[in-house]
Amino acid sequence: MSLGKEAVGRKAADYVEDGMVVGFGTGSTAYFFIDEVGKRIQAGELKHIVGVATSRQTLTQMQSLGIESRSLDDVNFIDLLVDGADETTRDFNGIKGGGGALLHEKIVAQNSRRIIWIVTEDKLVDTLGKFPLPVEIVQFGSWKLFRTFDQSGMNPTFRKSGQDTLFITDSGNYIIDLNLDVIQNPHQLAFELSNMVGVVEHGLFLNYPDVILSSDAEGNVQEI
Ligand code: 5RP
Repeated sequence: MSLGKEAVGRKAADYVEDGMVVGFGTGSTAYFFIDEVGKRIQAGELKHIVGVATSRQTLTQMQSLGIESRSLDDVNFIDLLVDGADETTRDFNGIKGGGGALLHEKIVAQNSRRIIWIVTEDKLVDTLGKFPLPVEIVQFGSWKLFRTFDQSGMNPTFRKSGQDTLFITDSGNYIIDLNLDVIQNPHQLAFELSNMVGVVEHGLFLNYPDVILSSDAEGNVQEI
């Protein structure tokens, strides 16, 4: 367990105010945020908040803590979304989807007024790409897309959930991870991926968060 992940996840709960509609992210850092919000509700510090989950995994945790949940379509907008990231630059461009929830995370983010990313400082980078870029694709014709990525030198790998089982997202799609090492022009790549038939969404989140909370290994949290 990472002390940094726990510290930054719990710290982000300070940004939640009573009456808010809150977006709950996915992953091992978001886990601590959700847990802390649950504790504050149980302690009576937060009287009423409504939550929108970015994945089934997050929804299950919210329900176990008694956090009221609504579907995205049942709220007008989200006041605050708190989510993790796999890599981020200090100017708010990142890669998400390591946990496979990028599609729902991006849809929830698009409907959020304020976004906070919670990361450990090792995820702060100057150039994106060391972390494999997740691309969510429809199942039909997935090997054709795989070959296209391969022929373009993007070093694709199918995401697996077991030795012989392909990972299936909450929307029933596959994920191909692109092992790029360096992404020189994220905006150009995002444009190209968005225009490929069969690609549902990619994990480049460009100019998304309003605030990044970053924690060092000792659990000291800094706002960027
Ligand atoms: C899930 C995500 C996560 O936010 C991201 O992978 C970070 O996860 P963790 O907090 O476990 O390191 O994008 O799709």
